[in-house]
Amino acid sequence: MALEKKIRELKEKREKMLLGGGEEAIVKQKAMGKNTARERIIAILDPGTFHEYDMFVEHDARDFGMDKKNLPSDGVVIGTGTVHGNPVAIFAQDFTVAGGSLGLMHSRKITKIMDHALKMRIPLIGINDSGGARIQEGVNSLAGYGEIFFRNTISSGVIPQISVILGPCAGGAVYSPALTDFVFVVDNISKMFITGPEVIKTVLGEEISMEALGGARVHCETSGNAHFFATSEEECFSQIKRLISLIPRNNEMKAAIAEALPPEAGYDIEKIVPGDPTLPYDVREVIRAVADGSEFFEIQEMYARNMVIGFGRMGGRTVGFVANQPMEMAGVLDVDSSDKAARFIRYCDAFSIPLITFVDLPGYLPGVDQEHAGVIRHGAKVLYAYSEATVPKLTVILRKAYGGGYIAMSSRHLRADFVLAWPTAEIAVMGPEGAANIIFRKEITSASNPDEMRRQKVDEYREKFANPYVAASRGYVDAVIEPSETRRMLLHGLEVSESKEVQMPWKKHGIPPF
Ligand code: HXC
Repeated sequence: MALEKKIRELKEKREKMLLGGGEEAIVKQKAMGKNTARERIIAILDPGTFHEYDMFVEHDARDFGMDKKNLPSDGVVIGTGTVHGNPVAIFAQDFTVAGGSLGLMHSRKITKIMDHALKMRIPLIGINDSGGARIQEGVNSLAGYGEIFFRNTISSGVIPQISVILGPCAGGAVYSPALTDFVFVVDNISKMFITGPEVIKTVLGEEISMEALGGARVHCETSGNAHFFATSEEECFSQIKRLISLIPRNNEMKAAIAEALPPEAGYDIEKIVPGDPTLPYDVREVIRAVADGSEFFEIQEMYARNMVIGFGRMGGRTVGFVANQPMEMAGVLDVDSSDKAARFIRYCDAFSIPLITFVDLPGYLPGVDQEHAGVIRHGAKVLYAYSEATVPKLTVILRKAYGGGYIAMSSRHLRADFVLAWPTAEIAVMGPEGAANIIFRKEITSASNPDEMRRQKVDEYREKFANPYVAASRGYVDAVIEPSETRRMLLHGLEVSESKEVQMPWKKHGIPPF
């Protein structure tokens, strides 16, 4: 009898906590197209697997009327569960409770689940929906953020860290997502900025809406802070689940192996790349033509589109695809595309995901803007990331591979394991036009018909160098292959590199061109 009473009491206490900030606040939350913190967690996890901890944690702040404020679960829900059977740790800030603001105990709940995730070597998913530091708690809130940032950094490269922005994420709070591996945003719901519109108006006298300042589109298209864009929370949740199914649980495990499906029959790999080197095409078609089931999970689809990155499977195993996109700025490397590729390469390397690189680029983007924006420093990130990566590295040169672009895009010289080239590959110091103009300048300018002479010299250069055979004759390219042989060659390369081992010299860490 006594036990029954106690259980009844427990149930009543739980019911109270499950209401979060109360019905009125929940109605307000729903009116914004948002789910509650627990609904979000339950939607991401496998049914019935959520186990909540620290439900009864209370704050002990006393100032500014906090002694009279009861904040259920202190505005954040934490726990563990599974996604497609993979254990994960998760937290979700509850905006219905004091705007999901972060006080000391709130931060301790987050750091507790972060510690748990690291100790158990399982992915961490953090759902951000918060007005930032709980103003009444002063420096204790700041301390809380500092503790979170430290853990984000220490866990980096050990367990996958996923941030989901489902409401405001303002001020210094943005630095936790920025330190994690993948940031998911939802149109009209996510708002992310260091200083809000009011501060901007006061300091700079400029008016800007929250959406235009740091909405989902801004971070997917312009800043590059976010990696996945969705139009609803439900779409976002299915993206998260898909990502979890593709990546390993931690840096000592490999991603789960799926059934090895052939690519869909509709892809004719011979017909994707146009014969004319000046014509564009969508390199994602090449990826789909070789990937299992033609499935490609693109990352940062809307940012620096001249570079394509994302996950797929080959022979059932997860691989990371990196490809120049000739459809966008001819696929050049510039500041943003270099950042985008370098970070992804490091992710794949940290989590034992083999890299497959498709090359078709005229080189680094010339121009004062790029030089002044630091294309030297940012471009170097690609060289650094590929050189440092010890996972299997397979490269396919589809068409142009000119200059620094040739070297940077996972060349043999940066220790690619297999370098394949299609017969359409053009591997040279620069494009035939530019090259002919420089080395045959005298002949061209002194010719009776300079245009005709230029055409001749361009053809001469193309004939001699713009092909894969010079590189193949030096062994820089391992095999010149027909496009239709690509999947078979890549699958074989992956199989051979399964037990790849590389010894690197001891160092505390390198100094990448951050
Ligand atoms: C305490 C907060 C809060 C905060 C919101 N609330 N933010 N309480 N500290 N930071 C409370 C509100 O008082 C309100 O409580 C409830 O949450 C809902 O807030 P509303 O303003 O009614 O909601 P909404 O209109 O949707 O506006 C959301 C908002 C706004 C845009 C986030 O609340 C806002 O601007 N908040 C302040 C943001 C901010 O400046 N934070 C500090 C940043 S500095 P009641 O009781 O009325 O329901 C910072 C430093 C971190 O974060 C540095 C780390 C390195």
